[in-house]
Amino acid sequence: MSINHCKIMELPKISNAQGNLTFIEGNSHVPFDIRRVYYLYDVPGGAIRGGHAHKDLHQLIVAMSGSFDIVIDDGNEKRRFHLNRSYQGLYICPMIWRELDNFSSGSVCMVLASNLYDEDDYYRDYDSFMKARETME
Ligand code: TYD
Repeated sequence: MSINHCKIMELPKISNAQGNLTFIEGNSHVPFDIRRVYYLYDVPGGAIRGGHAHKDLHQLIVAMSGSFDIVIDDGNEKRRFHLNRSYQGLYICPMIWRELDNFSSGSVCMVLASNLYDEDDYYRDYDSFMKARETME
């Protein structure tokens, strides 16, 4: 599971004079079953969120409103993505360290996740994450 598995997914967008509609179906527009949705909002300027990796969780992150950046890191390479479109999402596979920053005022970050919340699925310490990655290779 390298950084190359993580990518911007273009979501369906139905547009007319009354506005836009985007939908996301599990195992279709995202490569996993959606079992949880959560969202970040009222994030203060300058805040950094994330700072962890997941062992098994797949996620899609969408900027529902405003914008923010996501830096992903597989231990070998880091990439920064700027999210600011409600019809695009960043897919993040398991075993990827991520940090979210540069939140605009009023931004909303929605996350679709492949499983329920489980603290045991987290690496919250970068060195432990790197050790686990090394044993994978
Ligand atoms: P965390 O995943 O660390 O947030 P972020 O990566 O955005 O900084 O979660 C923050 C807190 O919220 C932590 O105490 C766990 C809790 N939490 C839940 O209880 N359920 C959830 O679905 C999520 C994502 C977090």
